[in-house]
Amino acid sequence: MKYIHTFSKDIPVSQVALGCMRISSMTAAECEAYISHALDCGINYFDHADIYGGGKCEEVFGAALALNPSLREKMIIQTKCGIRPGRYDFSKDHIIASAEKSLSKLGIEQLDVLLLHRPDLLMEPEEVAAAFDHLYTSGKVRAFGVSNHSALQIELLQKYVVQPITINQMQLSITNAAMVASGANVNLANKDGVNYDGYLRDYCRLHGITIQPWSPLQHGFISGTFLGSPDYPELNAKLREIGEKYGVSDTGIAIAWLMRLPEGMQPIVGSTNAQRIEEIAKAADITLSREDWYEIYRTAGYKLP
Ligand SMILES: NC(=O)c1ccc[n+]([C@@H]2O[C@H](COP(=O)([O-])OP(=O)(O)OC[C@H]3O[C@@H](n4cnc5c(N)ncnc54)[C@H](OP(=O)(O)O)[C@@H]3O)[C@@H](O)[C@H]2O)c1
Repeated sequence: MKYIHTFSKDIPVSQVALGCMRISSMTAAECEAYISHALDCGINYFDHADIYGGGKCEEVFGAALALNPSLREKMIIQTKCGIRPGRYDFSKDHIIASAEKSLSKLGIEQLDVLLLHRPDLLMEPEEVAAAFDHLYTSGKVRAFGVSNHSALQIELLQKYVVQPITINQMQLSITNAAMVASGANVNLANKDGVNYDGYLRDYCRLHGITIQPWSPLQHGFISGTFLGSPDYPELNAKLREIGEKYGVSDTGIAIAWLMRLPEGMQPIVGSTNAQRIEEIAKAADITLSREDWYEIYRTAGYKLP
């Protein structure tokens, strides 16, 4: 496992994180085993949101920590707030209430990281700043970030928020790589030349913000994995071929492809399968060659001008 520093804590931060969006049906014991296994594989960063499983995911995770409290000090816990039924809400009261509810469901004293889940169209940055100040000074949240935000949206927030925005979680996989492709198609009137994110990769790299690719193995909008999918025969053959060369699985190569981006991305992996999690952790140790990285990129259908 490679370790990165997204913010200061006494433990190293694994470059691969585990997303806990799919754990709502686990028992506390199953979840305890899932966490322990991830830690054994070197993964110590766990991503939540108040809304995952309708709130059940944080509850299950909290029940697992209650079964084995020694796990807490070995991990980074991140959660998100700001999505409510039919609306987004970055009001001060909602951000604070949501973070406090997450703390209670997780059964912990402090969130390591709190992210704003999706840009609130009615966002008042002063309200966000006041909420973050309250959560930070009361010791309830250690660090802050955002998700699905453009470069300028972060810039606007950061003008008011005192604490640094350290993370931006964005959808990114080999088959959903507009954020990457636009960098190779500057000033070209083709579909990959469309920049949807305000040059987020460059912005985040300039400002020391870690991008966390969410759904790193999915195509479309959480519509299934491209791995083994008959819709992606060439890409799957290429991932298997390159995987064999490095002695890791195709799933692992798909994650290694994201980690090869030089700014140090932190993929949020959603698997709950112990073997797959192990394969991914193993692949985190390899560094794809430039030739292999570009070959995968081209096989996924992206062209080099
Ligand atoms: N910020 C946001 O707006 C946002 C939105 C969505 C998600 N997220 C975060 O991102 C995390 C990851 O999202 P995700 O779960 O969609 O990520 P993912 O890692 O792309 O997908 C995981 C799913 O793909 C399956 N899978 C993976 N490899 C496979 C393979 N080789 N063959 C067959 N199935 C395979 C997994 O099944 P197995 O369990 O069987 O391996 C699981 O159902 C979430 O948990 C959440 O924390 C954030």
